[in-house]
Formats: sequence, C-alpha cells, structure tokens
Amino acid sequence: MTASPPAVLDRFTAPVQIEMRQVFAALVSPFYQMARYHLGWVDQHGATAAGDGGKGLRSTLCLLSSEAVGGTVERVLPAAAALELVHNFSLVHDDVQDDSVSRRHRPTVWSLWGKPQAINVGDSLFSLARMALLRLSAHAVPADHVVHLAVRLDETCLRLCEGQYLDMDFQQRPEVTLDQYLEMIDGKTAALMACACYFGAFLGGGYEPAVAGHFSEIGRNLGLAFQIKDDVLGVWGASGTTGKPVADDILSRKKAFPAVYASTKAGPRVRARLAEIYAQPELCQQDVARVLELFDEAGAREAAEAAARHYAGMSIGGLAGLGLENAAAAGLRDVISFAVERER
Ligand code: IPE
Ligand code: IPE
Ligand code: MG
Ligand code: MG
Repeated sequence: MTASPPAVLDRFTAPVQIEMRQVFAALVSPFYQMARYHLGWVDQHGATAAGDGGKGLRSTLCLLSSEAVGGTVERVLPAAAALELVHNFSLVHDDVQDDSVSRRHRPTVWSLWGKPQAINVGDSLFSLARMALLRLSAHAVPADHVVHLAVRLDETCLRLCEGQYLDMDFQQRPEVTLDQYLEMIDGKTAALMACACYFGAFLGGGYEPAVAGHFSEIGRNLGLAFQIKDDVLGVWGASGTTGKPVADDILSRKKAFPAVYASTKAGPRVRARLAEIYAQPELCQQDVARVLELFDEAGAREAAEAAARHYAGMSIGGLAGLGLENAAAAGLRDVISFAVERER
C-alpha cells in the first residue's frame, strides 16, 4: 500500500505540462495570468513560479490506460491535457461554490481576484479543455473519433455539474442517505476519472468502445474511493499536508461521507445530537468539536476508510479481470492504492 504518491504520478508530469502550456501559448492577455496562477505556473504578481499544480491523477489515469492496452503516451497527450484542464476548471468554480480560501497551499483564485473573476477563469479553463482535446486531430486521430471523445467530455462535464448541484443542494437538507451521497460523488468526482480511463483505453487500444467502457468502470470505482478518502482528509487530514482548510465541510453542513454515515447509521442519541447541531442557523468552532466527537462515537472514520477500500477493491478487481500483465497495469494498481492510502 502507498501513502506517499507512487513514482508513476511523476512520470507524465513534464509531457502533460508541456502539452497544457501549448494550449496557452498564444494567450497573451493579462486575463490568463489568473489561470496560470491557479495552475502553479506564475505567482499572484505574474512572476514565473514552480507552484503545486496538483497530483496529475486524471492525466496519469488516461496515459496509463492507453499504455495498458498497448498505446503510446505521445498521441494521447491532448486528451490528458484536456482532462487536467476540465479538472482545474471544476476546482476554480468549486472554490467559489465552497467559499474555500486555500488550495494547493496557496490562496484560491477567488480569494485573490474576487468571485466574478474566478468564474471567468473557470470558464476559460473549460473552453481551453475542449480546445486541448481537439488537438488530437494533429496526432492523426480520425475526426469521427475526436468527435466521439468531445461528446464524451461534454457528457462528463454535465455529470460533474449535476454532482456539484447535488453537493450544494444537500447542504440545505437535514438528512441525506448513503445512496444519495454515492449518486452525488459519482457525478462530481467519479465521472471525470471514468472519462480519463475511457479516453486512454479508447485512444490506445484501437478505438474499441467496449474495452474503453471496461476501463471507464475501473476509473469510476477509483473515483468513488478517491472522493470518500477526500472526505476523510477534509475532516481528519492535516491542512499542512492537504493544502486545503480542514473542518470546513462541517461548518458548511456538507453531506460528506462522515456526516452522512453518522446521521444515518449511528445510534439514536448520536443521530439526534447531530440533527440538533445541524439545525442551528449558524455553526461555530465549538459545534465542530462536538460533531467530531459524535463522528468518533459513530465510528464514521473507520466506516469511511472501509468504504473507500471497498471501491478501490472493485477498481482493482475490474483491472484484474482484464488480465493485463504489463508495467502500465501495475502502475494503475499503484494509483488505485494511493487513492485510499494517501494523506494529501
Ligand atoms: C480534488 O482533486 C478534487 C476532488 C475531486 C476531491 P485532487 O486531489 O486530484 O486535486 P489536485 O489536482 O491534486 O490538486
Ligand atoms: C470535489 O469537490 C469535486 C469537484 C471539484 C468537482 P470537493 O469540494 O469535495 O473537493 P475539495 O476538497 O474542495 O478539493
Ligand atoms: Mg465542493
Ligand atoms: Mg471544495
């Protein structure tokens, strides 16, 4: 099991970054400096920086899926860059939606330039993602296959937005079931990881939707595991390691896994106390401390870790079912393990 990022997550950083920078190459307006800041390329004053650009999980999933079925990295890079840009579009908007002041160990775009501009930045990253994908045509991918993937990317963005809609809708609801929670994370997180594996397998394996569909399911289960672990880190992680504020999920009544589990599966006393706390018009730090005690009493952390391991197991099982004995498949297994063992 891998608590620190596996070496395979570094393998594609340089080529994916080069591909992403190509997409920005002709964009000289100061507007794009905010997107470059979010990506870690410049500091808030526009000076060149080497900031944290994220773990590169979605591009890695795409490129490893391609290699696992015999494809190359080079030809798939536009798809890998598109996935990272969609992911980053969703993060810039998510930080507005969640009122989050830090990400990747630095202030969020909205906290520096305001929410209206952050919406513009997210929108530009969304458009640039689609432009990045169309660069597949320059890598000899036939036009009908590029269109197929463009449709798939748009469908994925819709699923992601549906998930974000549910995430925010659930904040207003007193109780959410585990099934409703799973539907929400399936959209907001798993859909893009499913798409990443689909893209890689489709492009690398001779445009076979059936094979790619199998990879999509591997990515989806990985995404469910990843988000459940993210919910654990959001409550019990160290913000110095995650680069994100902790306990914000509690203050904002997010129906993350621990809250959903404790409020539906704990004994009547814990459930009643949680309902009482969450029913208040405002939550304070004392409430956070009480909620944490109730989560402990409910065994919410252990249940979340077990659920994350369950979906990671499904993902690894799906991969094993393909019977691929190569280094890329082993790399995918490492990434799946990392998703549930990670601390950031
Ligand atoms: C954060 O994703 C958003 C979620 C889906 C939980 P990552 O943790 O993959 O973000 P970066 O790109 O590494 O910062
Ligand atoms: C993750 O959102 C999903 C998307 C960004 C679409 P969260 O709000 O759960 O993740 P973090 O903790 O801010 O990265
Ligand atoms: Mg969110
Ligand atoms: Mg968030």
